[in-house]
Amino acid sequence: MESHFSLVFFSFLTISIPILFKSPLVEAEDYAVGDSDGWTTGINYLEWSEKYNFTVGDTLVFKYVLNQHNVYQVTETTFRSCDASSGVISIHLSGNDRIELTEPTKYWFICNTKGHCKGGMRFGINVTATSGETPPPPSGETPPLPSDGSSSPPPPAPVTAPGGNAAAHGREMRWWLCAPVVLFDLVYW
Ligand SMILES: *[C@@H]1O[C@H](CO)[C@@H](O)[C@H](O)[C@H]1NC(C)=O
Ligand SMILES: *[C@@H]1O[C@H](CO)[C@@H](O)[C@H](O)[C@H]1NC(C)=O
Repeated sequence: MESHFSLVFFSFLTISIPILFKSPLVEAEDYAVGDSDGWTTGINYLEWSEKYNFTVGDTLVFKYVLNQHNVYQVTETTFRSCDASSGVISIHLSGNDRIELTEPTKYWFICNTKGHCKGGMRFGINVTATSGETPPPPSGETPPLPSDGSSSPPPPAPVTAPGGNAAAHGREMRWWLCAPVVLFDLVYW
């Protein structure tokens, strides 16, 4: 009886204390391409791109002297060939271009000023999906309540040990109440 009770109590605890891990809010970041050097010649952008982990929602900021450089988002093929006659996804020319990374995919960027791409003004990044935005699905993984209820016929009414004793006393009392009847029957026979 007592081990059964502690079993019920423990399953009650494990079911009724759902520990909700609130994933820390991952804020979207701005990344200045080339850090303080900006978008220019003579910088190792491969090295720069490997310093960070980019996630969906982040923004790349390209800062450069207007008309001296530009930003072409291109396909991997065009990134490798530096030939922007095809494979151009978008063109940015403002000198202060903000490009939000909206997809969990690879992004490739080059400067299309003559010679600059081959000279090293190009890089690719892997953008990963935001990790904090998928809460654990409230799947039907916690329905042991009904099965537990069916396996324990008496409802867990006696919440305290004294209650259990009282129930035992009650049964004893009932037995003694029956005793005279049994005795009477025996005597009558
Ligand atoms: C990027 O992610 C990798 C693997 O998850 C980790 O080892 C590395 O420290 C991260 N780098 C930065 C700059 O957060
Ligand atoms: C993207 O990640 C893959 C595997 O993790 C790696 O091989 C590849 O070099 C990365 N690409 C870029 C552009 O960083």
